[in-house]
Amino acid sequence: MEFPFSINQLFPERVSILDQTLVAGRKTTGAPHLQANIETVIDELGRASAKAQQLPASITSASKLQSQRHQLYLLKDGESNGGRGVVVGFLKVGYKKLFLLDHQGSHVEAEPLCILDFYIAENLQRYGHGRELFDFMLQHKKLEPVLMAYDRPSPKFLSFLAKHYCLTPSVPQANNFVVFEGFFVNRSVAQLRKVPLKKPDGEIKPYSLMEREVVHQEQRARPWPFAPPHSPLRSVSSQCSHSLSVGSSPSRARPQAAPVSALGRNRDQSPQSPLIERCRERRSSSLNRSHLGLH
Ligand code: COA
Repeated sequence: MEFPFSINQLFPERVSILDQTLVAGRKTTGAPHLQANIETVIDELGRASAKAQQLPASITSASKLQSQRHQLYLLKDGESNGGRGVVVGFLKVGYKKLFLLDHQGSHVEAEPLCILDFYIAENLQRYGHGRELFDFMLQHKKLEPVLMAYDRPSPKFLSFLAKHYCLTPSVPQANNFVVFEGFFVNRSVAQLRKVPLKKPDGEIKPYSLMEREVVHQEQRARPWPFAPPHSPLRSVSSQCSHSLSVGSSPSRARPQAAPVSALGRNRDQSPQSPLIERCRERRSSSLNRSHLGLH
């Protein structure tokens, strides 16, 4: 994604972390034109993400980021566009208080880190940039993907999670969030609280108002927790070795130079939990077997 100003001047690192201040690692916040350019970049990314997900309005914008306690990881390619740099994509996360259903169908209160928005520029998708950004965030947050909740993940994102992190199938929920097998298992009791079905003053209300609630008008007609499980996302199930993608591309050429993230690792060196490593080993051995015609 190109802009008529230098991306490298705004974002010195390959991955920048933006919060309410929109500072992106610069020492001084004083230059108003730089701040305005950062806002332009975030607004543009938010619009592109909404368009890609067919949302009627952006769930990410500079003003939203300034007013919410979210974090936005922005990935750039500093060498493109005549050395001015291009924006490759972004990932937005934040903590949300959620009422979730565990395997037994009991209501559980949790406040996990949630993936709220994720976008890689169209012409750069399926080159590993999404994984690089996601791995960076996991390392920064010292988290495993199974411990996170996912706000209405798109089919592409579900395919991404199945492919790279073996996250499948999900535990059915009565809201827009998706959590996966292991979310309840790997979490300490202290982080989860069973909640009664009724409060003295009435039924439990949905978790705090979400961005996607606002843009998805149709969801408002179904107050939680009475909405029947209906989301097509719930039935999503695949195995790590079989991504959900339309036309998997295991042999797709990757970028020639492996990008080095701001943490100084390339995408094949990212430190991961044994679980993720096992997932990736299973996937590559399965790919090798299928290339050899074995079953
Ligand atoms: N169709 C289906 N799956 C896709 C896909 C597509 N067009 N693009 C990416 N994926 C999934 C696949 O599992 C793919 O593996 P494959 O190529 O072997 O099938 C895998 O992601 C590729 O991983 P990677 O290259 O690291 O991901 P990426 O850089 O393409 O980023 C997304 C992944 C989801 C961020 C990116 O596709 C995107 O921005 N999509 C549009 C916006 C969106 O849906 N965001 C999710 C918000 S909930």
